[in-house]
Amino acid sequence: MLSIKHLSKTYGEGERATRAIGDVSFELGEREFVCVVGPSGCGKTTLLKCMSGLLEPTAGEVELKGGPVTEPPEEMALVFQEYSRSLLPWLSVRGNVVMPLRHKKLDKAERTKLVEEAVDAVGLSGFIDRYPWQLSGGMQQRVAIARALAYQPEILLMDEPFASVDAQTRGDLEDLILRVRERYDMTILFVTHDIDESVYLSNRIVVLTPSPTEVREILDVDLPYPRDQIETKELPEFAHLRAHVYRLIKRAAAGEQPDAESAAPQAAEAP
Ligand SMILES: Nc1ncnc2c1ncn2[C@@H]1O[C@H](COP(=O)(O)OP(=O)(O)OP(=O)(O)O)[C@@H](O)[C@H]1O
Ligand SMILES: [Mg+2]
Repeated sequence: MLSIKHLSKTYGEGERATRAIGDVSFELGEREFVCVVGPSGCGKTTLLKCMSGLLEPTAGEVELKGGPVTEPPEEMALVFQEYSRSLLPWLSVRGNVVMPLRHKKLDKAERTKLVEEAVDAVGLSGFIDRYPWQLSGGMQQRVAIARALAYQPEILLMDEPFASVDAQTRGDLEDLILRVRERYDMTILFVTHDIDESVYLSNRIVVLTPSPTEVREILDVDLPYPRDQIETKELPEFAHLRAHVYRLIKRAAAGEQPDAESAAPQAAEAP
């Protein structure tokens, strides 16, 4: 569905150049839920911006269904890291959610139906005429998700969407996104630096190295859906995957090479 081929991105030129992405390749299959994990500042947001056509890569390609992505494709919706800045404070929940639909040729009744369904899917029906500043952080983030859902994207790209909510709300939002994924039948790419979250949500994890980032490893997550915050996390396979990803990131941060797999981890202090 979406393929990233030898993508690299350098910001600026000459002495001020910052190489954010070294060389990244991976594919996103139809209806997959892929999580991208990597240390803070490794280039995750940059990668997402390149994948959505918001930013031009320095080298490499992004292809959607075989065609190059040069601008945000119609089939795609994005939920950003800083949701509080992505909602418009002078518009109600309804007004915010309807925004991206203005570009679609829909009559008023269809538009209203999509908006109300999406707001219902995130459990905010009772708040549809409120304003963002009347809602909690977790609720605002659900509005941002509803806005993406109403648009009915084939692909949803999310950049650490739950980073700034409390643990309980975060768990609820994780379950919400798994449910709406079933309901809306989407392909999802989800960026996070939370290892547990990446294992809990995805069917595949792309582990990135520190900046300039490269793919460290791609893992399959063969845990059954539907997932459950308690039962899934008690499975031995969950613990195993979690530990594996944790080690990969720890070693990558310490600058070790991939083939140092069997080395003792206690010596892994960065110089
Ligand atoms: N507009 C920009 N101009 C110059 N450098 C940038 C710009 N945006 C990001 N960078 C640099 O690129 C690198 C990757 O940044 P990016 O925001 O993609 O990382 P990230 O993995 O999303 O970080 P975080 O985990 O904090 O969200 C960083 O070194 C950052 O300083
Ligand atoms: Mg980021």
